[in-house]
Amino acid sequence: MSRPVIAIDGPAGAGKSTVARLLAARLGITMLDTGAMYRALALAAVRAGVASDSAADLEHLASRAMIGFEPDSPDRVLLDGEDVSGAIRTLEMGQMASAVSVHPGVRHWLVRRQQEIIQPGGFVLEGRDTTTVVAPGADLKVFLTASIEERARRRWLELKAKGEMVQLQEVVVDVVERDHRDYSRPDSPLALAEDAVIVETYGVDPSEVVETILRHLGERPDSAR
Ligand code: DC
Repeated sequence: MSRPVIAIDGPAGAGKSTVARLLAARLGITMLDTGAMYRALALAAVRAGVASDSAADLEHLASRAMIGFEPDSPDRVLLDGEDVSGAIRTLEMGQMASAVSVHPGVRHWLVRRQQEIIQPGGFVLEGRDTTTVVAPGADLKVFLTASIEERARRRWLELKAKGEMVQLQEVVVDVVERDHRDYSRPDSPLALAEDAVIVETYGVDPSEVVETILRHLGERPDSAR
């Protein structure tokens, strides 16, 4: 399996990005951060003055915007050729990305683009619909999980590190609400694929999570890639 496709799914705060990045480095393949693409579209919308509830305008934008990654540098996100990696990593863009991602027309175009990117194989992709919608035929599908309390604690530590003074309990409530939204949204809800392997990340070092995933990968029959 020289150019596998591994999809990593799971709720907010389960550790998808950290694990996907480590796993891709370990296998010498490319990481695809699907959330970065929704963030880039959010930025395009803000720049074009398109509101987050203008479904038709957002779909039009999604069909035309050239969203991709710098070749050989998957952390560099490109919007119409411009490196927007820094501009998309703000709280505002996270919220706008969450709002634009609910529109089926937007998802249609971004999922299509993501499927084009991974087509040659050799990708670890992460995001909330990667095992069910973007890459249901992936060589390995992983659903990362951790309790609400643990995921809230991770997020709270991240926020504290950024200097945001917030009570842990507030973050717990936020995670509960986000889970509810993610699991119940009509288009591409967060869902557990039947053949995904479930990997618990509570109290487990990310490098150990990677080892567990590699063991599961090793147990798969060799694919034709
Ligand atoms: O992972 P992130 O915070 O960068 O994602 C930003 C937003 O994009 C997130 O709130 C939900 C949306 N998203 C999505 O709907 N589907 C994905 N596969 C990835 C992200």
